[in-house]
Amino acid sequence: TVEDYGDSIVSRLREIFAKAQATAYPTAPVFPVVVTETSNPKFGDYQCNSALGLSKLLKTVNINEAPPVVAKKIVAAVEKGDLIKELEVAGPGFINVHLQHDFIGAHVGSILTAGVSSPKITKRKAVVDFSAPNIAKEMHVGHLRSTIIGDSICRLLEFVGFDVARINHVGDWGTQFGMLVAHLQDTFPNYLVETPPIADLQSFYKESKQRFDADKTFKARAYECVVKLQNFDEDIVKGWKLICDVSRADFNRIYQRLDVTIIERGESFYQQRMIDVVAELDAAGVLKTEEGRRLMFPTDCTIPLTVVKSDGGFTYDTSDMATIKHRIFEEKADWLLYVVDAGQSLHLETIYAAARDLGYYTPEEKRVQHIGFGLVLGEDKKKFRTRAGDTVRLTELLDEGVKRSEEKLREKGRHEVLNEAELAAAKEAVAYGCIKYADLSHNRINDYVFSFDRMLDDRGNTAVYLLYCYARIRSIARNAGLTRKDLNEKLAAQNGVIQLKHEAEVRLGKQILKFADTLLLVLDTLLLNTLCEYVYTLSTVYTDFYGFCQVITKDKEGKIESIDYNRLALCEATADTMAACFKILGIRTLEKI
Ligand code: ARG
Repeated sequence: TVEDYGDSIVSRLREIFAKAQATAYPTAPVFPVVVTETSNPKFGDYQCNSALGLSKLLKTVNINEAPPVVAKKIVAAVEKGDLIKELEVAGPGFINVHLQHDFIGAHVGSILTAGVSSPKITKRKAVVDFSAPNIAKEMHVGHLRSTIIGDSICRLLEFVGFDVARINHVGDWGTQFGMLVAHLQDTFPNYLVETPPIADLQSFYKESKQRFDADKTFKARAYECVVKLQNFDEDIVKGWKLICDVSRADFNRIYQRLDVTIIERGESFYQQRMIDVVAELDAAGVLKTEEGRRLMFPTDCTIPLTVVKSDGGFTYDTSDMATIKHRIFEEKADWLLYVVDAGQSLHLETIYAAARDLGYYTPEEKRVQHIGFGLVLGEDKKKFRTRAGDTVRLTELLDEGVKRSEEKLREKGRHEVLNEAELAAAKEAVAYGCIKYADLSHNRINDYVFSFDRMLDDRGNTAVYLLYCYARIRSIARNAGLTRKDLNEKLAAQNGVIQLKHEAEVRLGKQILKFADTLLLVLDTLLLNTLCEYVYTLSTVYTDFYGFCQVITKDKEGKIESIDYNRLALCEATADTMAACFKILGIRTLEKI
């Protein structure tokens, strides 16, 4: 679990109750405090459930008290501070917690003056392995999922102050590159002096593969090229680089469109380290030879790792062993996250087991985790493909998203309200935002159905709905002609503490307050759908509030009569909190849409 102790209400309550438990029962062994949010406002805002367990534990120190009695004693010992308004014991010994409205109001006010704060947790170094397409092959929807989820995880870790290495473990090494370079030599003999115009690397790959399978002399040359490549032969490396450049340019265009930054560090980076790690394994005596292959059998694993093939070459296993070692000992990472499709779980778990066997890390000191995800399905619930049955090209997918989002905006008549630049910004923000949000708002473990119609619907839990909501909130202060500075000056007289009176105001304030605890939860599970649910709930709670509570009163001519500054502050704090969520989800915001 990730600790915190800044804005997390759950953590603060835990501390308060731990102290109260110790005061009420000084002789009792330490008992963990359980604090949860309540689902029903009848039971207050939060609930402490430890009296039940504590009552049992107290028997070991000869105190026989029923849970409701224990709960009452804990309540009597609680120091309420500025946080707690009221406590009550309910049912079999639950303690219901009601928060002070002024505490919530002060928190909302602090967002206006100091910005949305993140939970304060120990700074860690994280390596996040995501995207990782393969050179000379098309980046497919699986890589898109990895890109979207991985980028968002990085954004989350950066938001809470981690030092994050965003690593693109591209497939840029291995036998197929011998074949590609040999084919390059034949088709573009001038490649050393003139950059070959490879327009379609996919077909180039197919051609070379055909020759590789059909032509023995070509196959032999391809193998020679691999050996030369692995020995860093200058001309061969040059050919390999040219091929990588073509793919890289394609990948980068996609990253740019999606606002994703990532550092390329492909499998080739580990060539020397693979040699070293195999030598290390050999020296450690953990390798077995079977039919010429060198295998390692990690503890409790169903499959071995093949670290050297019978032809002497390295494998995906070898590169991931070198990689994990590099991340632990050279990068000195505390968290190693691998955002890779769930189909590779066995491979990664075997790598982690091997690394533990070798003493590279213990689960107590490092978080090494496969962040798996399911498949992208078409609306027919089958693997996502084009009508013709081909894999969908990402560039075309993004283009279609932009086209469709523009159509939607025009359907709603937005082109009459927005100028050209605003419309252009809106169509991209909506398209990319929707694609990302559709992915992130589903539990990543499951498969999810890709549907432009659903993700571009402006009702329901979609990015468009949220972006409209956000823009509407921002327009309130703008239309009132009030800057943030003006607003803060108005609120200075009440020390920046927002007054919460109407029930809907209180509810909105409480939802804003839950941001830090939501982030802590997501840091634990790395399930971003929880953050999506949070921001969606925030927008629905806001919509309720806006229905009940007039912010700006206008006369018959539409002239502003009065402004409720407390409510306007709530609006702005809501929008700021939504913007922080969007930032973590990698969604561009729009002031106008
Ligand atoms: N290139 C691989 C693929 O397309 C993913 C690599 C994931 N990262 C890793 N360290 N194995 O399936």
